[in-house]
Amino acid sequence: MIVDDGHTDHVEQNRRYWDDQAAAWHGPLAREQWSQPQPRWGLWATPESRVGVLPDDLAGMSTIELGCGTGYVSAWLARAGAHPVGIDVSKEQLATARAMQAEFDIEFPLVLASAEAVPYDDHTFGLAISEYGAALWCDPYRWIPEAARLLVPGGRLVFMRYSPLYAMCVPPEGPASSTLSRPQFGLTRLDWGNHVEFVLPHGEMLRLLRSCGFVVEDLIEIQAPGHTVRDYANVPADWARQWPCEEIWKARLAG
Ligand SMILES: C[S@@+](CC[C@H](N)C(=O)[O-])C[C@H]1O[C@@H](n2cnc3c(N)ncnc32)[C@H](O)[C@@H]1O
Repeated sequence: MIVDDGHTDHVEQNRRYWDDQAAAWHGPLAREQWSQPQPRWGLWATPESRVGVLPDDLAGMSTIELGCGTGYVSAWLARAGAHPVGIDVSKEQLATARAMQAEFDIEFPLVLASAEAVPYDDHTFGLAISEYGAALWCDPYRWIPEAARLLVPGGRLVFMRYSPLYAMCVPPEGPASSTLSRPQFGLTRLDWGNHVEFVLPHGEMLRLLRSCGFVVEDLIEIQAPGHTVRDYANVPADWARQWPCEEIWKARLAG
């Protein structure tokens, strides 16, 4: 199902936004992530050992990262023996990913395309993954059916995004507070003026995944660690110690 919400310009708007933002990600930020020996996820660098995002049988698996940005997740997958492909709509983000590939001597295809229309055949990949890529920046009613199309039967989909609770508690001027600022009904599309994000509420996400043939295996709500961590402009660490600001979904395509 594709929701015709009358707003089909988000891909172009987000591409422009990320081409502008990319400079901030180029350099130390990307390098720090590429340098990590073990995956660590999201705002609070949650270690892979705690959340088990990745399948055990990655070696030899073809994977696709939807909205790969600077490409460090795919680099982690390559180090684990997978054969990754990274897709992103921003040529500037991909330029950073290419620079990191050269610096770290890890090569994999980087493709300039929208995760809502991926130029690969059906049933090509064993894992589709997104850490705040398509999971946040693409219309879920477009990118999740696309992920299902790309996966082999039994293939895995894992993605990390903001939680609906966070999206409801962050006012347009930020940061998140303990007051609900938005209704849950109709939450899906968050228009920030210069970019658009998508946070589908849990019930709708569950139904969408099931309608695309996925079996949901886990939904992990992430708590910020107790020790001192940095605050983000819209996400104070103290808020995220009390409520989940981000979450990881794990699903498997029935097969
Ligand atoms: C916060 S970054 C996350 C990616 C990666 N985890 C990282 O931090 O480098 C979001 C990425 O989503 C990409 N993006 C936005 N809209 C997209 C679309 N329609 N298709 C593919 N990528 C998209 C942006 O260009 C950006 O690189």
